[in-house]
Amino acid sequence: MASGMIAETVAAKGLSRGRLKVAAPFVLEQDWGAYTPQQHAVWQELVGLRMPQLARHACAEYLEGFDLIGLRPDLLPNLADVSSRLAPRTGWSSTPVSGFLPADAFFEMLSNRMFPTTTWLRTRESMDYTPEPDIFHDVFGHVPMHAHPVFADFLEHYGKVCASVIDRPEALERLGRLFWFTVEFGVIRQRGEIKVYGSGLISSHGECTRLLAGGCEIKDFNLEAVLSQAMQTSEMQPVLYAVESFEEIYEAAKAAESMIG
Ligand SMILES: [Fe+2]
Repeated sequence: MASGMIAETVAAKGLSRGRLKVAAPFVLEQDWGAYTPQQHAVWQELVGLRMPQLARHACAEYLEGFDLIGLRPDLLPNLADVSSRLAPRTGWSSTPVSGFLPADAFFEMLSNRMFPTTTWLRTRESMDYTPEPDIFHDVFGHVPMHAHPVFADFLEHYGKVCASVIDRPEALERLGRLFWFTVEFGVIRQRGEIKVYGSGLISSHGECTRLLAGGCEIKDFNLEAVLSQAMQTSEMQPVLYAVESFEEIYEAAKAAESMIG
């Protein structure tokens, strides 16, 4: 990259981060050079474990997004590179943060098309489960979908709806279920088959294998049902909701806004 382009990228990054108020203290730089060869090897192993199943069972938009954002099977992602590929497509960035964000900071970032992204990686001892999201869950699991224009619009709108009810815990709890059953555990029907797009399914071999083996009840997506459905955050999911298109979740975010607002 030429030095002029680097200066422009740095300036653009500064501008987008400058929009943040409550989330600003959580944003950090990713020290990509500090990842060890062992950590790159863990990433490679994780991608190698998931990709054969995903090539068959992930939705087409996820697989296209994986290529579009330049993810590599052998190296941990450089978030600045990922963001520079996303920016011209949907305006989203994958912005490094220090860990779990408070709700107001999280929704402020989504409202600004900035996905809060952790930079730590699980160890080889906990390949299929981490209590908190790591870079594999966040980037491998979530970010490819952000290259899809409709999904990108949905996620920004969802962030804005949540930000608008930030002082209403009961409304946020209901909206949290919409996130859970779409962004985290969403499935979609494509060419007569169930395909996965939610990060919790994309990034977890155990959870996805159980789904594909028929271990979850799959219902047609219904906003009222989703907003009322209890979430299983520590166990495998007993029920998931299938959409027919990503327009359906964008419309759901708009409908949720009028139902809750
Ligand atoms: Fe997630």
